[in-house]
Amino acid sequence: MNSAPRVGVVGSANVDLVVRCRALPRPGETVLAGDVRRLAGGKGANQAAAAARLGAAVTFHGAVGDDEAGRWLLESLGSHGVDVARVARVARPTGTAFITLDAAGENQIVVAPGANGSLDLASVDLASYAIVLTQLEIDPAVVADVVARAPRVVLNAAPAVALDPAVLARADVVIVNETEAEALDLDRLDHVVVTLGAHGAERRERGRMAQRVAAPAVTPVDTVGAGDVFCAAYTVALARAWSPDEALAYATHAGALATLALGAQGALPTDQEVVTWLARASS
Ligand code: RIB
Repeated sequence: MNSAPRVGVVGSANVDLVVRCRALPRPGETVLAGDVRRLAGGKGANQAAAAARLGAAVTFHGAVGDDEAGRWLLESLGSHGVDVARVARVARPTGTAFITLDAAGENQIVVAPGANGSLDLASVDLASYAIVLTQLEIDPAVVADVVARAPRVVLNAAPAVALDPAVLARADVVIVNETEAEALDLDRLDHVVVTLGAHGAERRERGRMAQRVAAPAVTPVDTVGAGDVFCAAYTVALARAWSPDEALAYATHAGALATLALGAQGALPTDQEVVTWLARASS
């Protein structure tokens, strides 16, 4: 097994401004919350950090503002072992996500993409990666470019935005949650993975369920970013030439472990931790 496959992640980096309140506000309602926390986030950055933590050699392709928040995000990604040398610094504010959590762990997220909208891959060679992982918090034209040029692509079709069906069809693997799955026509695709939260995940081939894995029982502290860790783990497993069956079990356990601390990058599991939980589940 190659323990450090080369993975490229193309996507967003955000500052997550997180507050906890008893119940999420309804439209027009004001509620009081605890102290605001500033945490590193963004689907792309979360996935890059998680893949590096799981042992892949990860390069992140993204864009942050030429501001303090951008510098802070890059330092944080670097501390997880992600190569950030190709990240652009642009004259727009660094992306920011406003995240509200309730007592039951439910969340609401509003993203102001800012600099993420300026990501440009024109001069980037994607051919050297074993696999490239991308998502939809960036310009859809960049995602279309990735699926056209990278040798192998995992597309996390999140958040749920309008997407050219040809882009979906060109991705080797599409990963979505249940809500996103309902918004997209996935039945003609060969390799779709649907995350089911506390119920685990399933793999579908041309609309037919091919495999289902139950999630390990955990007591979640914060589920924000768990889907990103799942996507990273699935991608790392495929980059190691594991089978989809093995990848699904590995990713389901990695995603569950990611819920055990506050913040999208607050509980990134190591490869050893995931393997230990997997062994426990099968004993
Ligand atoms: O998937 C979780 C991420 O979504 C958060 O970190 C937030 O930045 C939003 O992009």
